[in-house]
Amino acid sequence: MSREQERLKERIAAELDRGRRRSNGLTLDALDEEDLLAQHSPLMSPLVWDLAHIGNYEEQWLLRAAGGRAALRPDIDGLYDAFENPRADRVALPLLRPEEARAYNDRVRREVLDALDAADLDAVPAPRAPGERTLLEAGFVYHVVIQHEHQHDETMLATHQLRRGAPVLLEEEAAPPRAVPPPSEEVLVPAGPFTMGTDDDPWSYDNERGAHTVDLDAYWIDTDPVTNAAYQRFVDDGGYRDRRWWSARGWEWCRRREAEAPAFWDRDGTTWTRRRFGRVEEVPPDQPVQHVSFHEADAYARWAGRRLPTEAEWEKAARFDPATGRSLRFPWGDGDPDHSRANLGQRALGPHPVGGHPDGVSPLGVRQLIGDVWEWTSTTFHGYPGFASFPYREYSEVFFDRDYKVLRGGSWATHPTAVRSTFRNWDHPVRRQIFSGFRCARDADRD
Ligand code: AVJ
Ligand code: FE
Repeated sequence: MSREQERLKERIAAELDRGRRRSNGLTLDALDEEDLLAQHSPLMSPLVWDLAHIGNYEEQWLLRAAGGRAALRPDIDGLYDAFENPRADRVALPLLRPEEARAYNDRVRREVLDALDAADLDAVPAPRAPGERTLLEAGFVYHVVIQHEHQHDETMLATHQLRRGAPVLLEEEAAPPRAVPPPSEEVLVPAGPFTMGTDDDPWSYDNERGAHTVDLDAYWIDTDPVTNAAYQRFVDDGGYRDRRWWSARGWEWCRRREAEAPAFWDRDGTTWTRRRFGRVEEVPPDQPVQHVSFHEADAYARWAGRRLPTEAEWEKAARFDPATGRSLRFPWGDGDPDHSRANLGQRALGPHPVGGHPDGVSPLGVRQLIGDVWEWTSTTFHGYPGFASFPYREYSEVFFDRDYKVLRGGSWATHPTAVRSTFRNWDHPVRRQIFSGFRCARDADRD
């Protein structure tokens, strides 16, 4: 086995372990059986469903699809199929109890580590079509499973945020970083082509492929995400009662919900407070606003005389290096995220103040694109030119060209392995239990 492959396997084993510690920390280590089996919101699964679904997905992909092994528990596959069972129905299923889920997940993981030892991650079958991939090549299917666990951990954090009861998640961070003011509030992105998507990122999903040239007109984009203070001006200006700022569907949503402010906000006299993992606190003015739906982001932008960026505009701002003409893996370059560049991985239980990560700036001068809050774009989730589903249609393709808007950049709750400047997330435009915020853009004047 090559030294390179040995190192890849060590990295995979370490990341698998990191994911599992995190999953257990949000479930078995944090809550009692009743709380784990309960449905805390019709929008979310019982936490114990996510937990065993993580193990079941790992078994299906690493032991069966890639390892050729037989099912360990053929009786439970149907319970953990997300398409067969809508979230609101899962509480009524004969789910594995927490200790059964732990035993199942542990058993799967032991066998996975054996399979990883024996796997050949260097093998490339020939001949093959351009762009074609295999499950094991460069560790791809392991990367899918690692990211899947972290995606569900972020989902479980959203469940924790909706849950009522005594707080169980502890703030681990002593103090947020000091904020550096922006050199200017907006950045002008010059007209011209850039490379969107990727052909070779070993962690990339099918929906991030392939690399293709996109030519954009010049536009302005905010240096930083929209803050709570800025968003509160929209709220206090009567923005939620003024039809002018909303799309037709957005207004319908706003009226039906009787929405007045982001989710989890409450007015206490003249002060706005928010509930965060069971604790109530004053809304911090300098943090990016979070828990807004696409409709709210869209309405704010119209009120501000702006618009949301398209997905391509977001990606160009995050990747394009005008000095070389290249697109980078992250705003700061191709190196992995670290604590100074981005607020990721649930180190804090919320966003950092804007200006808190000047080291994460993109070549064009745009900041905090990665981490803190997912950013809504105006683009409907779709396949890039020449899209080919791999390894399965139900990850991305079945969601294309439907009622989903693209979100970019990851949040404070997203693990560093589960985001990059090409990564695409999507959700319904009404959703706001996710850790979602936004920044604004506008057309540049043509002269
Ligand atoms: C990519 C976050 C939209 O959570 O619904 C998890 C990821 N796919 N299990 C989701 C996913 C299968 C997906 N998102
Ligand atoms: Fe899943």
